[in-house]
Amino acid sequence: MRKSLVVGNWKMHGSLAGNVALLEAVKAGAAGVRADVALCVPYPYLAQAGTVLSGSKVAWGAQDVSEYESGAYTGEVSAAMLADLGCSCVIVGHSERRSFYGDTDAVVAAKFVAAQKAGLTPILCVGETLAERESGVTTAVVTRQLDAVLAAAGVSALKSAVVAYEPVWAIGTGKTASPQQAQEVHALIRARFAAEDAAIAQTTRILYGGSVKPANAQELFGQTDIDGGLIGGASLVAADFLAICAA
Ligand code: PGA
Repeated sequence: MRKSLVVGNWKMHGSLAGNVALLEAVKAGAAGVRADVALCVPYPYLAQAGTVLSGSKVAWGAQDVSEYESGAYTGEVSAAMLADLGCSCVIVGHSERRSFYGDTDAVVAAKFVAAQKAGLTPILCVGETLAERESGVTTAVVTRQLDAVLAAAGVSALKSAVVAYEPVWAIGTGKTASPQQAQEVHALIRARFAAEDAAIAQTTRILYGGSVKPANAQELFGQTDIDGGLIGGASLVAADFLAICAA
């Protein structure tokens, strides 16, 4: 039985003063929730998240990481640095990184490997654009994104990783994939892993992301292969995020 996981992705939002109430509320509210809970916050707030959340059931992590260990990479942050700050997880391959910053499948795979090497749990995002869905290549796109990571890391790496299916057309748009649409792709992802190793495929947690709200969380999370969510906008409102965690 896979334990549910809900991850908040704050994206580029927050302020030192404003974060306190949100972090404290999530910390308090998550204590009574059965699912695992994590928050991925902007780099400058990782130390603050660590201070507030340390000792609680809420884990914290970053939204991206360098594929390199150290060196002359101005502006980058390594996986070891995140581990130093007490992070336990990091998002890799979010569609905003893929589309705005040119993260290719190969770069995402390298980031996945770098994260695991530093002891972090990578949260690997995959998903198709609206144009891709409409032209019937969803399966091909998601499989290509998964295969890049399988080739670089091997299926055994999925034992200590999380996958998030985020259809790009559903992110921040208010258009959620229907539970059936989401389940269909989740099942496909699990089947891709099962083709390599059936036991690992059963343990890998696959989250859904894209306009998850308190009103639709329960039906999405009720699907056989949906093990929780990656929550953007709704993670900035403590009551909404906690309602999703409770679902
Ligand atoms: P959203 O974002 O919940 O605001 O759609 C999800 C994400 O991009 O992780």
